[in-house]
Amino acid sequence: MEDTLTVPPISAAMVLEDFGGADKLHMAEVPTPLPAHSGEMLVRVHATSINPIEWKMREGFGLPRFAWRRALGAKPILGLDFAGTVVDARGTSFARGDAVMGALPLHGAYAEYVVVQPADPRTGVARKPAEISFEEAALMPFAGLVAYAGLVTHGRMSASAPGARVLIVGASGGVGHLAVQMARHALGAALVVGVCSSRNAEFAKACGAHEVIAHDTESVADIAERYPQWANSFDLIFDTIGIDTYYSKLARRLLRPDGRFVTAALPQSVDGRPGEDVNLLGGLVMGAKLLWRHATGRYRLITGLLGGLPSHEGVPAMAQWLKAGKLRPHQSASFPLSQIAEAHRLSETGKTVGKISIRIQ
Ligand SMILES: NC(=O)c1ccc[n+]([C@@H]2O[C@H](COP(=O)([O-])OP(=O)(O)OC[C@H]3O[C@@H](n4cnc5c(N)ncnc54)[C@H](OP(=O)(O)O)[C@@H]3O)[C@@H](O)[C@H]2O)c1
Repeated sequence: MEDTLTVPPISAAMVLEDFGGADKLHMAEVPTPLPAHSGEMLVRVHATSINPIEWKMREGFGLPRFAWRRALGAKPILGLDFAGTVVDARGTSFARGDAVMGALPLHGAYAEYVVVQPADPRTGVARKPAEISFEEAALMPFAGLVAYAGLVTHGRMSASAPGARVLIVGASGGVGHLAVQMARHALGAALVVGVCSSRNAEFAKACGAHEVIAHDTESVADIAERYPQWANSFDLIFDTIGIDTYYSKLARRLLRPDGRFVTAALPQSVDGRPGEDVNLLGGLVMGAKLLWRHATGRYRLITGLLGGLPSHEGVPAMAQWLKAGKLRPHQSASFPLSQIAEAHRLSETGKTVGKISIRIQ
């Protein structure tokens, strides 16, 4: 325990030298960050995990570099999820030696030490259940918060009102596999339909999906025709991939009149590029379209990096569900901190089943 709690003046971190490819990530010795104020705590990080948003940030997100440099600093340390041991907890409800898990507002977790502000509304942190390892715990927070926002905050599901019917697009991915488990095992959904590729159908079922639609063998646009018993019966469609067909063609036919369509990802552009990657004019047009949808109907977009996650409510809820065995994040691969570039490249294939973990110390 003493070893874990002794803070060296210099520690290791994975630094982004410049925006661009994974080769821009370099291990560096950095001054160990220290809490500057009461209410901030220092956590020795044992594990983090990869979220696609991190390699999108690494690439610059299609934004001018000066804008990102302003938000992240000149040579930022990326990383949202952390699981580790509290080393200094002054002015917080945590204690030195506590095992914790959480999500940072924007960046910083690809490092041996991180300063965490539990009271910050965009930070989520909870004690790690003893039943799971640090590496497993680090798989959960950010992706789990997006799933929680999709199902509970925007999707209006609740454990005290079970019986919802939900369709989850991307049921085998980082956000999706947690959403399937939450919907079925923690929030008591009566029907969970998952959409993923046929090779991952059994995985989605093992997570809790009652039915799986394989997007590579079945035409997604025809779902309403092929499953007439589902017509206007779903309370929620939760899209974790950004496939606009579910809104433009299917929401009207599958959702109940008061049902919601919630998406974690911007719709892809007509030429197939990710929604975050459009130019300024395209972004303005898309923004106007999404605002119109939001104002006139059931469309909701989760704005995770803009403070749109229920961090204080969601991370403790997930910790309880983990403890109760209702959630179990799936680890598809594990890399040491020094090989984060490899982990980014793997995530960029878009084929991750569950999540990729990063071991730190
Ligand atoms: N708005 C926010 O705040 C926010 C927060 C977090 C994440 N996101 C975004 O949400 C997206 C998902 O994140 P993630 O962590 O879940 O990503 P991920 O783990 O990389 O998801 C990959 C999964 O996508 C599935 N997939 C690919 N094409 C599909 C299709 N046509 N239909 C259904 N599933 C498909 C793949 O499953 P199969 O191979 O089985 O198809 C794969 O398992 C990312 O774009 C991310 O940037 C947004």
